[in-house]
Parts: sequence; structure tokens; C-alpha cells
Amino acid sequence: MLLDRFKDKIVVISGASSGIGREMALQLARHGARVVLGARREEELRRVAEECAGRGGQAAYRRTDISREEDARALAELAVERFGGIDVLINNAGFTMYSPFEELRDLSVAERIMRVNFLGSVYLTYYALPHLKKSRGRLVAVSSLTGKTGVPTRSLYAASKHAMAGFFDSLRIELKKHGVSVTVLYPGFVKTPIRENALGPDGKPLGSSHIDEGSAMEVEEAVRRMLEAVARRKRELVMGARARLGLWLKLIAPSLVDRMAERSVSSGKT
Ligand SMILES: NC(=O)c1ccc[n+]([C@@H]2O[C@H](COP(=O)([O-])OP(=O)(O)OC[C@H]3O[C@@H](n4cnc5c(N)ncnc54)[C@H](OP(=O)(O)O)[C@@H]3O)[C@@H](O)[C@H]2O)c1
Repeated sequence: MLLDRFKDKIVVISGASSGIGREMALQLARHGARVVLGARREEELRRVAEECAGRGGQAAYRRTDISREEDARALAELAVERFGGIDVLINNAGFTMYSPFEELRDLSVAERIMRVNFLGSVYLTYYALPHLKKSRGRLVAVSSLTGKTGVPTRSLYAASKHAMAGFFDSLRIELKKHGVSVTVLYPGFVKTPIRENALGPDGKPLGSSHIDEGSAMEVEEAVRRMLEAVARRKRELVMGARARLGLWLKLIAPSLVDRMAERSVSSGKT
């Protein structure tokens, strides 16, 4: 089975206390990986680590605010201290926002979202890189379809995810000669608390989702597909046939794709 390729691999995951990162840890543990988990909520991390151990994997964790360079460095170091290196790095920690740009009353959202989604990935990647080169490992970024095309009410999130794409696409070329693969994942809607945690116009979490969560993909299914792409060292995974079609359409009729994004947001589907 494809995910057996992760057996005994040392995998660092940022944002492992919830949603996609948590599910990645659990699936990897079930396939015999040694996972190293980072996020700000230590108690949640402890629980995820216990669940990983219950599935036959080994887990270490550390309270990490990924927007702080020293925390990112300490997370990479934990993997080396506890397990002796890094085979896979999954830059997953992130959050979103929900507000038309001009209605934002707290402009610090711009800095906060870039510090976590973009700079957090930069810091962790920097400190993991010597170890990934040694293991000829896998470097992974969890972006979003919003990293491929602009979406109204999500301008700053889209900016942070486009920044990630530019960074990791460049690294892919730099790292090829070292045998390190770079996989950028572009999920659509996945059932996690991300929309409850999204920052609103006042810079505070919304507390509830603004979409019909029933239409979102189950996190188990989404993560299985993502890990298969990582196992195969694919350069990227755009999730959903409709999204892939939209990207083709964007090449020939970009304003049509803009209108689709606008309609989708105003109808409450996005
Ligand atoms: N769910 C979707 O529909 C969807 C779609 C496209 C892309 N994504 C991307 O998938 C990734 C995971 O999101 P999710 O859906 O799993 O949402 P989630 O359940 O809200 O998880 C977000 C994770 O990021 C962590 N995090 C947030 N700020 C952090 C910080 N400063 N330092 C360290 N960790 C931090 C959170 O942990 P703490 O709060 O404990 O720090 C949590 O573990 C994100 O990058 C998101 O943009 C999600």
C-alpha cells in the first residue's frame, strides 16, 4: 500500500492539534511513521500524540507558535533530538479570514495571516532543510485553492497562500539536485474547524462556519489523498475535478472564473 512508504519515516507536522494536521498525524502513525507535532495548544497536541501511540506510531510534540522563528527552529530540533533526523516536513499550520478588504476594522489581520501561513512555513522549512537534504526527503506545503485564484472576502488569505506557492515552487527547483521533492497541496473545502476559527472584520474568530459544511470533503478522505500525493512525490495536488477544470478555464477566460468565485461567495457556497 502506498502509505506504507511512510513506515519508520520521521515526519514533522505543523498545526497538528486539529483538522488536517491532526488527521495526517493519525494516518501516518497507523502506517508506522514517527511523527513530530507542533501547534500552540499543548493539551490538544498531547491528546493527538496519545492517539498516535494508540495506533502503533511513535510521537513527540512541542508547543509551537509557528510565527516565531525560535519556536519553528525548536520544533525541527525536537525531531532530530528524539528520532535522529527529518524525512518529511508538512507545513500545514494556518488560518483564514472572512471579510471584504475595505470592511476590515483591524488591519493587523494582514500581518498575522502572513506571519503564520507564509513566514511560519519559511522558518520551519529553513531549519528542517539540512536534515531533509540528508534524507533526500519530502517537503510539503498545505496551500488552498485560494492559493491558485483570488476569492472575494478572502483577499489576505489568498495572498498568504499565493506567497506559499511562489516560495515552494522556487524551492522545488533549487532542491531537485539534492533529491528533495516538493509537493504543494491545494485542497478545496475540508470538514475542519477552520471556518469557525476564521478572523472576521474585527480581527476576532467568527465562531461559526459561513458555509454549508455538508458540502465539504471528509477530513479522512482529503488527508488520504494528500498523503498519497506526498508518497508519490507529486509536484502538486489540486483537489476536485471542478477546481481542476476551473484552472484550465482561467487560462482562456479568467474573468469567467472571477465571476464564478464572486457568485460562489455571494450564494454562500464559499
Ligand atoms: N479545511 C479546509 O477547508 C481547508 C481548505 C484549504 C486549505 N486548508 C489549509 O489546511 C491547513 C490546516 O487547516 P485546517 O482546515 O486543518 O484548520 P484547523 O482545524 O483550524 O487547524 C489549523 C491548525 O493550525 C494551527 N495553527 C494556527 N495558528 C498557529 C500558529 N500561530 N502556530 C502554530 N500552529 C498554528 C492550529 O493549532 P493551534 O490553534 O493549537 O495553534 C491548528 O492545529 C491550513 O493551512 C489551511 O489554510 C484548509
